[in-house]
Amino acid sequence: MSDPRWNDVEAWIRERVIPDDDALTAAVERADAGGLPSVQVDPTMGKFLNLLARMTGAQRILEIGTLAGYSTIWLARALPADGRLITLEYDPEHAKVAEENIAAAGVGDLVDLRVGAALDELPRIAEAGEGPFDLVFIDADKDNQHNYLAWALDLTRVGSVIVGDNIVRGGRTLEDPENPSSQGMLRFMDLMAADPRVDATVLQTVGSKGWDGFALGLVVE
Ligand SMILES: C[S@@+](CC[C@H](N)C(=O)[O-])C[C@H]1O[C@@H](n2cnc3c(N)ncnc32)[C@H](O)[C@@H]1O
Repeated sequence: MSDPRWNDVEAWIRERVIPDDDALTAAVERADAGGLPSVQVDPTMGKFLNLLARMTGAQRILEIGTLAGYSTIWLARALPADGRLITLEYDPEHAKVAEENIAAAGVGDLVDLRVGAALDELPRIAEAGEGPFDLVFIDADKDNQHNYLAWALDLTRVGSVIVGDNIVRGGRTLEDPENPSSQGMLRFMDLMAADPRVDATVLQTVGSKGWDGFALGLVVE
C-alpha cells in the first residue's frame, strides 16, 4: 500500500527539517552498490531516533539489526564523546558495508559492531555486564521481535527507552497472523502489554516505506 501524497509530504518534511547529509547519502549509495536490501529506516525515522537519543541523554545504545549502518549513524551522532553504541548484525556482507559507512561518517570510535545472530550475542552482552542500555532499537529479523524485547527488558533500567520497528507492516501483522514475521510482532505486542516493566504505545507511520508503525516503550520498573 502506498500513496504518492505520502512521498510528497515526506519530501516537504525533509526539505525543512532534515537537510541533505553527505555521509548518510553515501551510506545508502554504498548499500545499494553492494546489493543490500533497501530496508533501512527512512530519514524521518532516522532523525526521530537521533532526537529521541538526545532527548533522553542516551550514553549507551543497543541496536539489533545494523544492515548498512544507516540508523546506526543517526543514533551514534546523538552520543557524547564517551558514549557507546553496540550494534548487532547477522550477515557479514551487511556488516562489511556498515563498517565502511560508520567509519566514513566519523562515528567509528563510538560504535561497536558485532557480527553474529543477535540471540547468540545478547547473552554475551548480558554476561559481560555491558548493560544497562539507555536506548534499545530493535530492527532485525521480525520473527524474533518478541525475543529481542525480552532481552531489551533485561538489558535496560528504569527510564530506558525501547523502540521496536515494523509493528504494522502494511497491515500484514493483523491480516496474516500465521506469518512468522506477524507472529513475532503479535508476540512482541503481547509481551509489551503483559510485562509490568514497560509502558508503551505504537505510532502508525506512512511515507516512502509505505504504511508501518513503531512501538515506543518506557521502562518503568
Ligand atoms: C531492517 S534491516 C536493519 C536496518 C537498519 N536498522 C537501518 O535502519 O539502517 C534488518 C537487519 O537485521 C539483520 N538480521 C537478520 N537476522 C538477524 C539476526 N538473527 N541477528 C542479527 N541481525 C539480523 C539483517 O541481516 C538486516 O541487515
